[in-house]
Amino acid sequence: MQEFPDLMLRLLNRRELLEISTLLIMTDQFARKAHAWSARFSEPVSELVKRYTASVDFDKRLARVDIQGSLAHAVMLAKVGVISAQDRADIERGMQQIASEIESGRFQWSIDLEDVHLNIERRLTDLVGDAGKRLHTARSRNDQVATDIRLWLRGEIDTLIGLLRELQLSLIEQAEKHCATIMPGFTHLQVAQPVTFGHHLMAYVEMFARDAERLVDCRKRVNRLPLGAAALAGTSYPIDRAMVAELLGFDAIAANSLDAVSDRDFAIEFCAAGALIMTHISRLSEELIIWMSARVGFIDLPDRYCTGSSIMPQKKNPDVPELARGKTGRVTGHLIGLLTLMKGQPLAYNKDNQEDKEPLFDTVDTLQATLRIFADMMLGVEVKADRMRQAAFEGFSTATDLADYLVRKGLPFRDAHEAVGAAVRHAQNAGVDLSQLSLAVLQGFHPSIDADVFEVLQLEGSVASRSHPGGTAPAQVLAAVAAARQRLS
Ligand code: ARG
Repeated sequence: MQEFPDLMLRLLNRRELLEISTLLIMTDQFARKAHAWSARFSEPVSELVKRYTASVDFDKRLARVDIQGSLAHAVMLAKVGVISAQDRADIERGMQQIASEIESGRFQWSIDLEDVHLNIERRLTDLVGDAGKRLHTARSRNDQVATDIRLWLRGEIDTLIGLLRELQLSLIEQAEKHCATIMPGFTHLQVAQPVTFGHHLMAYVEMFARDAERLVDCRKRVNRLPLGAAALAGTSYPIDRAMVAELLGFDAIAANSLDAVSDRDFAIEFCAAGALIMTHISRLSEELIIWMSARVGFIDLPDRYCTGSSIMPQKKNPDVPELARGKTGRVTGHLIGLLTLMKGQPLAYNKDNQEDKEPLFDTVDTLQATLRIFADMMLGVEVKADRMRQAAFEGFSTATDLADYLVRKGLPFRDAHEAVGAAVRHAQNAGVDLSQLSLAVLQGFHPSIDADVFEVLQLEGSVASRSHPGGTAPAQVLAAVAAARQRLS
């Protein structure tokens, strides 16, 4: 009544005042009806709370799958006779219009309607009347949202598996090209033994292949239908869950209603697989950054993947790998966030679960953008084979080959190791490679050394000798390339 100026109140008689207050109470009730659940409440939700609890700003991303799920639900409700064929037709017509409104950006999202589900349901009711109000029979937002996320994630997993495939194909192409390009292999970031660059790249193909396997496996557990669980206990309507599962392409129904609405382990599992993908990307990034530094100079990245410095004109920075390394932290963070989100929740659904979406969405976005860019960037890596070879040559990387040579001549490995250690010390002091020592000098370290030793001390001889499945020999790299292509075909 405060809205009414005192003067006006004084001019009105008792009856008029009564009429006005009744009118105001009705208007107030109408306003509170803005919420689908507000009938039992005696005051409207505060503006702050509304903004705090609303998820529509981010979950509107689920609109397409929300409609897909609702349509399957409506088809089932009509089939079991809970709604009429006319209701079903009205719902389908309304949803079609809503889908096109959303697609074209004409749909009016309202924070007053809290989330994507209530926004769509309200619009449906505006468009088709009572049929829209019947759609939510035998369903709750709890099983609805769990279904939506699973439908959505399933599609994104498929995209990610495709992107991992693209990245592997790029790496395979480079590996084939560089099956015989020699570089130093490292342990402890110290030159260890010569390897081929192709072999090094194929190591990442293995990692990304396992990452794809993990996604395929995770998808199986994502692809189960929560609908039918309703709020938590199931529903008294004669629903047909198997039919909905089939309509939506789910492999099975979630077997327990309490579990179906409450657990987000499928999302956590996905984020764990995602964190591993980014971990592999991050290791590759770290190597690209090291390889590209002027001191190492093994590769160059195309200019389109780098940026300059605003103050140092000579700089060309590997921004993309650096950012990918940085974004790995954020994806790992999402995994920890979701694990923490879940750990304290009693059965069944709790609003905490609304917090599953942003980390999940960001994980998917980060992974897709990163894999897309890496698939292209890895094809553009320009290899400086001379620098790689020189680095392998300078690091006494064939010392193990010399030890193995002595073993073949009959020495126990430990003795051979000691003799070669002395030879390395000598060569280091002389500032030359083992292969540059004369035969006479080498024989000083062990008399069984012959002229054939120089073959073993050559980098090419060293890598070629490691010719078994999984070894670094060019022939084995080509075999690995063929096997990987086969796997991906
Ligand atoms: N926006 C909610 C979510 O993301 C939908 C489910 C709401 N359920 C409820 N009982 N309030 O989890």
